[in-house]
Amino acid sequence: MAQLLRSGCSGRVLCSGAVGAARSMSTAWWRHVEPAAKDPILGVTEAFLADPSPNKVNVGVGAYRDDNGKPVVLECVREAERRIAGNLNMEYLPMGGSVNMVEETLKLAYGENSDLLKDKRIAAVQALSGTGACRLFADFQKRFSPDSQIYIPVPTWANHHNIWRDAHVPQRTFHYYHPQSRGLDFASMMDDIKNAPNGSFFLLHACAHNPTGVDPSEEQWREISHQFKVKGHFAFFDMAYQGFASGDPERDAKSIRIFLEDGHLIGCAQSYAKNMGLYGQRVGCLSVVCEDEKQAVAVKSQLQQLARPMYSNPPVHGALIVSTILGDPDLKKLWLKEVKGMADRIIGMRTALRENLEKLGSPLSWEHVTKQIGMFCYSGMTPEQVDRLTKEYHIYMTRNGRISMAGVTTGNVGYLANAIHEVTKSG
Ligand code: LMR
Repeated sequence: MAQLLRSGCSGRVLCSGAVGAARSMSTAWWRHVEPAAKDPILGVTEAFLADPSPNKVNVGVGAYRDDNGKPVVLECVREAERRIAGNLNMEYLPMGGSVNMVEETLKLAYGENSDLLKDKRIAAVQALSGTGACRLFADFQKRFSPDSQIYIPVPTWANHHNIWRDAHVPQRTFHYYHPQSRGLDFASMMDDIKNAPNGSFFLLHACAHNPTGVDPSEEQWREISHQFKVKGHFAFFDMAYQGFASGDPERDAKSIRIFLEDGHLIGCAQSYAKNMGLYGQRVGCLSVVCEDEKQAVAVKSQLQQLARPMYSNPPVHGALIVSTILGDPDLKKLWLKEVKGMADRIIGMRTALRENLEKLGSPLSWEHVTKQIGMFCYSGMTPEQVDRLTKEYHIYMTRNGRISMAGVTTGNVGYLANAIHEVTKSG
């Protein structure tokens, strides 16, 4: 505008020089914007889709496939959709989402007969799947504990870093994975917990750790919980895979239940992307355990206030599917059977992959393939070896060597094992 006035043009009539200047100014808005780096997980799917090879295999994204490599819609979901059809109006949900869905979801995490539920001590809102739940919590943490940091395991799901970064919460890390044993580095983890300032926030994976497939044992969880108590730390559980570790959602909630037995006031992100196959529906839940009902009411109201300027209220369809399934004993039974079926198929593929590698005479140990649990196998392959898999064999996975076991099938396990053997046999 200053340039327009200096050029002597004013009012509604612009002279041609001013029009040119205005035009070039108006095109300058986004010239400094560089293309963003590809997402390390979702970028793999993009590359896979662009590959015309008939042999291509996608073991990148953590999304369940059947033994023909096809996406699965659970039978319980199909049945819930049939029941919903025609009965769904398109009204807004409340800011906190579907009350029925949230209630049922809390039972899964905290236990059907939890006193916390009876005493209304849990502040909970429907969230946009696990990512949305983590982000809402990170924003809540920033607003109400503005000087705090978050301790994140090494490694973790890549998006955890983005989430707390964009919420402007400083990040610290704690030891988790032990590359030599391909298991848990429990001693270093405990040291980090002890050495963190009292009252620190920690992000924990409730089960089926992503990307490593390595979880603490029950005994180790007890020690972790005890040390959190000693230090007054806050545990935020990301539970994206409840049911995928053991096939039983109750068993997979053990870590959380141990913390609750010890009287911790935890936070929890839940998602139905994996265990109900509702990936694109973006349905999940954020909960925060409070000291009493009054505090829970206050916390919930603040979570809603954080949600309002971001998306106002969450989507209705997925939430209705979930509440329909979990609110009906028969559908819930069918769901539990289907979750177990998915977990069992993955466990079977772990055995098949390991056996194939051993039959090929691999000089390396592949014991960890069957020891790790959940959707992922943290193979130990280097980024260069993964690059070779992609270039030479059209096999797509994240460069940290994570294999989504959900993408392994009877049809491709031999091909995958052979390719892994070829790129790893010389060390
Ligand atoms: C994954 O880790 O592959 C999934 O959780 C999908 C995602 O959003 O990253």
